Amino acid sequence: MINGIETVLYGVDDVELCTRYFVDFGLPLVESSSEHAHFRLDEGSNVIIRSINDPLIPKSSIVGIGVQEVIWGVDTPQNLEKLLKDLARDREVRFDEDGTAHCFTDDGLAIGFKVFTKIPVVSAPSPSNSPGNVNRINQHRKWIVKARPKTIQHVVFQTPDVEKSWAFYRDRLNFRVSDIQKGFGIFGRASGAHDHHNIYFLNANLPFKGPDVWGMDGQLRFDHVNFGVDDVDEVMVGANHMQRQGWPKSAWGLGRHRIASSLFLYLPCPTGGQAEYGADSDHVDDSWVPRVWNPMFGFFSFVTNMAPFMLDAAPWEYEYAPGYTPEKKPQA
Ligand SMILES: [Fe+2]
Repeated sequence: MINGIETVLYGVDDVELCTRYFVDFGLPLVESSSEHAHFRLDEGSNVIIRSINDPLIPKSSIVGIGVQEVIWGVDTPQNLEKLLKDLARDREVRFDEDGTAHCFTDDGLAIGFKVFTKIPVVSAPSPSNSPGNVNRINQHRKWIVKARPKTIQHVVFQTPDVEKSWAFYRDRLNFRVSDIQKGFGIFGRASGAHDHHNIYFLNANLPFKGPDVWGMDGQLRFDHVNFGVDDVDEVMVGANHMQRQGWPKSAWGLGRHRIASSLFLYLPCPTGGQAEYGADSDHVDDSWVPRVWNPMFGFFSFVTNMAPFMLDAAPWEYEYAPGYTPEKKPQA
């Protein structure tokens, strides 16, 4: 079973600049040189930065800079072997020196696989108080000065063919659909993970342009990686620290998605695409029933700075996804 993202490999224009960015963002740096940087998060997942022209960057069909390859973790050597045997039926699977397997998806994205023993992470966010519900007495909230993301929760690609991109993950990698944002994209979860989603394919033909939106152009591109932090305080302390270090601010600011219930804050990133602080997402298992969402209703329950296209209140629309809704019992 695939249990999550083991590594994201970025291909960038300026390795030194991107290294500084992720140090400020709060990722723990393991080593760096003029040619690369290696960050390792508490769960054992990795962020690697290299020049887009580095020979170690796979030549895939992705357009532009950003994440060029995702290495998926597999829970056991037996399951890894089984997965690779199936993939090798109709594509070349290449192994590198440390045993990591590499190949391409049906739409030409570079992916890899290796055994990944996830390190359990512990977090202790401050308890929350609300009227009549006191969880913190004689105790102030925790004070921190910068963020330290502990997990890589998901990666997002813009794709001209969401169904095709998703079908490979569903049919060949055994991912589950978590939710569908009508016309926008599909959220998918690895079968051995409980994050609401580990991958999202976003329709690259949406009519959004400009600096405060995705700036998509119909091509297969990297969009963003979500880094998991404890709570809203860590999201915002992280964002404030980034601003003090001179990095550009988030266009939309703090918000909460309705889909996955997750707090979000997207920051422009010199790797290309954006880097997201994420917290308080739904976790799901195979009992979860996917829904089809009105895209704007699902997109947010609140956002600090609404873009013009968010100003119209979205209709409260969602329905359980066809094929996943339990059969109705016949009337007696
Ligand atoms: Fe995200």
